[in-house]
Amino acid sequence: MWNKSSAALLAVVFGLVSCLGVALATEVPKDKAEIKIDLIPGKKGAVKFPHAKHASEYKDAKGAPISCKACHHTEKGDPKNAKDIKGCGDCHAAEGQPQKEVGGKKAPFLALKKGEEFDKGTVIFHKTCIECHKAVAKTVPEKAAIDKCKNCHGK
Ligand code: HEC
Ligand code: HEC
Ligand code: HEC
Ligand code: HEC
Repeated sequence: MWNKSSAALLAVVFGLVSCLGVALATEVPKDKAEIKIDLIPGKKGAVKFPHAKHASEYKDAKGAPISCKACHHTEKGDPKNAKDIKGCGDCHAAEGQPQKEVGGKKAPFLALKKGEEFDKGTVIFHKTCIECHKAVAKTVPEKAAIDKCKNCHGK
């Protein structure tokens, strides 16, 4: 039977479901939509990072959305409250600081120096960020530049 009230009921149900959908998905906090990663002092400088776009718009090499966990690797799933997510520097110590242990495992340093300069091979972000950028550069030809230094370190 189809009448006005069942249509209205249906509308209410759809409304509820979509509200729940929005409430359940964890989003990057508004004040963190665009951030500067500035944890490792050095010549390369801070990196401008479109944080929210990575979590909502950009896709990985398989064309799938990028989860919070892809970078915030100690999260088991998307936390209910995005603000509970810790910064990388909360666990990964700067050179010269005591290394932190989490769950019996030592968190590697943010980066270590090789002579006067930081060794790019030890920059913790390079592991998280460049692995995906390399994979995308291979599979999406028009994004081939995203694994180059200047994509992240300016022009
Ligand atoms: C996908 C992004 C990305 C790419 C590509 C990338 N980096 Fe980085 N790099 C970062 C981030 C993020 C940091 C940490 C910045 C901070 O905390 O100040 C960093 C830090 C560094 C540092 C240590 C900090 C400093 O100022 O000395 C060096 C050295 C460095 N990168 C070199 C390179 C070189 C060389 C390349 C190309 C071979 C490269 N990076 C490519 C993201 C990237
Ligand atoms: C592509 C990598 C990436 C993805 C995906 C990502 N983040 Fe982040 N997020 C970062 C980086 C890098 C920082 C800066 C950490 C720092 O400065 O220590 C950060 C910082 C944060 C912070 C601030 C932490 C603090 O106290 O400084 C919050 C909150 C956060 N992210 C939430 C989220 C949520 C929620 C999602 C998923 C909807 C998400 N992030 C997805 C990389 C990412
Ligand atoms: C709650 C603490 C904690 C937070 C927050 C955290 N990490 Fe880690 N991370 C660790 C620990 C502990 C390890 C070592 C794990 C192991 O040995 O299995 C690790 C390992 C890593 C590794 C692997 C290093 C290697 O040499 O294989 C990368 C890359 C990394 N973290 C990046 C990040 C980034 C980027 C962020 C922020 C977006 C972050 N981590 C936030 C604790 C943390
Ligand atoms: C799982 C995949 C993935 C990870 C992890 C990832 N990125 Fe990206 N990133 C992308 C893709 C895909 C693009 C290209 C998006 C586009 O142009 O549509 C991109 C683009 C960028 C850009 C260029 C944005 C612009 O407007 O030109 C910067 C800068 C960047 N990423 C920095 C980082 C940094 C720093 C990290 C680590 C904290 C990181 N990315 C981690 C997938 C990733």
